[in-house]
Parts: sequence; C-alpha cells; structure tokens
Amino acid sequence: MAAGKGTRMKSALPKVLHKLAGRSLLQHVLQTASRLGADGIVTVTGHGADEVEAAATAPNLRFVRQMPQLGTGHALQQAAPFLHASGTTLILNGDVPLIEADTARALVEACGGERLALLTIHLADPTGYGRILRGDPAGRSATEGGRVHGIREHRDATLIERNIREVYTGVMAAPTAHLKRWLAALTNDNSQGEYYLTDVVAMAVAEGLPVVTAHPQGDTEVLGVNSPVQLADLERRLQRRQADALMDAGVRLADPARFDLRGELVCGQDVEIDVNCVFEGRVTLGDFVRIGANCVIRNAVIAARATIHPFTHIDGEALGVSVGEGALVGPFARLRPGAQLGPDVHIGNFVEVKNSTLARGAKANHLAYLGDATVGERVNYGAGSITANYDGANKHRTLIGADVHVGSNCVLVAPVTLGKGATIGGGSTISKDAPAGQLTVARGKQVSLAGWKRPVKKG
Ligand code: UD1
Ligand code: MG
Repeated sequence: MAAGKGTRMKSALPKVLHKLAGRSLLQHVLQTASRLGADGIVTVTGHGADEVEAAATAPNLRFVRQMPQLGTGHALQQAAPFLHASGTTLILNGDVPLIEADTARALVEACGGERLALLTIHLADPTGYGRILRGDPAGRSATEGGRVHGIREHRDATLIERNIREVYTGVMAAPTAHLKRWLAALTNDNSQGEYYLTDVVAMAVAEGLPVVTAHPQGDTEVLGVNSPVQLADLERRLQRRQADALMDAGVRLADPARFDLRGELVCGQDVEIDVNCVFEGRVTLGDFVRIGANCVIRNAVIAARATIHPFTHIDGEALGVSVGEGALVGPFARLRPGAQLGPDVHIGNFVEVKNSTLARGAKANHLAYLGDATVGERVNYGAGSITANYDGANKHRTLIGADVHVGSNCVLVAPVTLGKGATIGGGSTISKDAPAGQLTVARGKQVSLAGWKRPVKKG
C-alpha cells in the first residue's frame, strides 16, 4: 500500500518516496517483497501516483490506482481484483520500510492459507498505532492477554485502550478468498470516515476463523514512518546497523554515530574512516585506504593505500571515479565523473578533476582545474593552472605528455598538446601545441623602464 498522502510528513513529496539510506521507503519494501518468491506484487498507488510508479521497480510488479484515497481497506479493495482467487496475500505498508524477509515469510507460514496472521509488537510508546484487542470481545476492559478479537485505531481508541502496548505493525497475511469477502463488507464508520483494513480482524473473529499473531525480532523492522521525526529516527537506526556490519567486517569507523551510507560500500582490510563521511551509490575502498573527516564519496573505486584527506568531494555519477594505489587526494579536492587517477597521483587543495586521466605520479597540488585532459606520468601541474576545455559549444581535450612541467597560472586552450618533457612558463596562455623538451612561454614580455617616476599628488 503506497497510495496515502502522508499528511503528517507535511511535504509535497509522496510519503513513500522519502528516502531512507538513499532509497525510497517504497523501494525498501519492494526489494524485500521480491525476495519472498510471491506470484506477483501489486502496489496500490494514488497520491502522486505518476511519481511513485516511475520510481518503483521490482520483478512481477503491477500498479493499481486508488483514487481518491479512502483508507487502507479501500486501498486493498482496489487491489482485490488482481489477487489470485485462492492462496495467501501478504500485506505490507509502503511506509514500514525495514521489514525483513524472514519475518514476512514466517507470517505467511503462520497464515498457511487458512488463518489471519498479524505481525504485532509491544512498544513502550504505542502512540499512533492500531492497538491489538485481546480477551473478552464484549470488552469490559482492555486486556493484553487472550485471543485477538480486533484492532482499534489510535484515533478511535478509548483512554483505556490507548494503554495497550501491543500494536499492529501494518503487516498482515490473509487467506485471499476470505480477504476479498471481508474487504467487500468494510464500512467507514469511524473517527476518520475511512475504510480501515484493520476492521477485517473483527470480521475473521465473527466468522470463527483463527487469528494468530507473530512477532518480529526487534522493533526497528516494523517502525512506520509518518513524520520527519520518525524518518530521522529510522535513518539513524539503519545507519547504526550498517555501521555495525562494517565494523564487524573489520572497518574502523572513528564514530559509528557519525557515519552515513546511502548505497553500497565494499571495503578491504584495515580501512579507516574518520567522522562525518557520507558514502553514496557504490563505493569500493581497497586495503589500508584512509578517508579523512567530512568527505562525501559517491560511485568511486579507491585503490589500496590511497588517502583521501578531509573535506574532499568525490562524485563519479554514472561514469565513476577511480583513485589509484597510494594516491593522495585533498584536503578540499573535488573529483568529478571520469576522473581516473593512477598510482601515487597527488591532488591537493581546491583542485577539480573531471573526465581526465592522470598517469602514475602526476601531481596537481593547488588551486587547479583539469577537465577532458590526458596527463602523463610525473607531470607537475602548477598552482592556478586550468584547461580551457569548453569553447562555448564543444568540449576539447588537452594532452599533456610525461614529465611535463606546467608553471603556475597557465591557461591551456584545448584542443592542445604539450609534448613530453615540455616546460610551460608560469602565466602562459597556451593555444598552440608546445614541443617536447622545450620551454614555451606565452605572455607579455617583462619590461623595466629606467628612469620612470611614480606620479606624485598635485598640491
Ligand atoms: C496503519 C494501520 C495501523 C498500524 C499502522 C502501522 C490501518 C487503518 N491502520 O495506520 O493499525 O498500526 O499502519 O504502521 O490500516 N494507504 C493507502 N491508501 C489509503 C491510506 C493509506 O494506500 O487510502 C497506505 C499508505 O500509503 C501507507 C499505508 O497505507 O503506506 C499505511 O497508511 P497510514 O495512513 O500511514 O496508516 P497508519 O495511520 O500508519
Ligand atoms: Mg503509517
């Protein structure tokens, strides 16, 4: 179910598209659902349906629209025609993202095609959740023991019922044939005027069908996201879980509470990551790699023994970035898509590299730009030098041979080639190829005027 607006998020973005560790809430649920070997997945969309459908992917997935959105029961009513006549239907909430496949599987088994199975949990603070009603259905008092006879939504609950700590997690497995019949009989006679899916529980009880409950291992996997506070809470829990897994594998995180992974991070041995780093997309760190504090790294492969100094931003986007063995990058460096640094390359502060290859030992240590360049071994690229790679319409390449020395503050107007071992005098604007092994200077000649006097202030 992913049709709800998520009013409590107070956002223009449909709730299920809000991100948790870089993936939408709905995509977390779909990835788990696709591991269950179901005949198919039906996702109910409604609020922001076009956006939600465009962002969701899973095998055997179909969408059903719920317009308008009149509650979770109404959502299931739209899906019912697309469910097989028999078998088991597992219902997952698009806003309960961390549900685990094993837990869902156990619930489907508990249903067995003939019982209504609810995933429930005891919460210290059950506010907002549907409460599990047990004991005497005549309801003298709300008790926590005995057979389940219904679910009461928080808003409809009496003060006594609100004390119940056992809540419905939003995950249910139901015999499909029964479910279809119950859905057809739902009413919206409640405080919100909505069709509540949770009302099927009382219907099952009235028909004498067994209602069973199963429980997850911990509460994190069943926490729902209804507000920014809950989203942030879940994010921290998931981040902590990911950090623990990395540390268990030997990665040394300076502080697991100040670590964010929004994708996949593959680490070799003896990797060290300082505080406040963010990893996105797919990042690979080789053995002994060190990442300084406050780095943001996305879609990159960093080879063994490379060091990324603090405040470096690396974003490979679709092309990727690669950093060679033993390379030193940063502090305050920026590597953009297609930056390929060979072994022992040095990229220093305020240096930007895009779509450029730097061979072994090349250095650009201060305030420079290398775009669409091929840089040979041991090149020294001076402070303040840039490749002028864009003529306003097209991009052109700059080829810099091995052992070239580019002085400070040069402009290399592409397309241009600097031959092997060439030296470019500081302050040059190079718009023609520079021959190998020679000094090329292209700037106004320095003149000194003998006898020249400074102007003096007129009295
Ligand atoms: C629901 C349950 C509550 C449970 C809680 C667990 C109902 C009536 N209540 O409450 O018992 O404790 O989940 O998190 O089911 N949705 C639709 N169409 C709609 C309304 C909602 O598709 O018309 C979807 C939402 O996108 C969301 C899910 O259903 O993914 C749950 O909706 P939400 O409004 O968050 O229900 P809760 O109030 O959390
Ligand atoms: Mg909810």
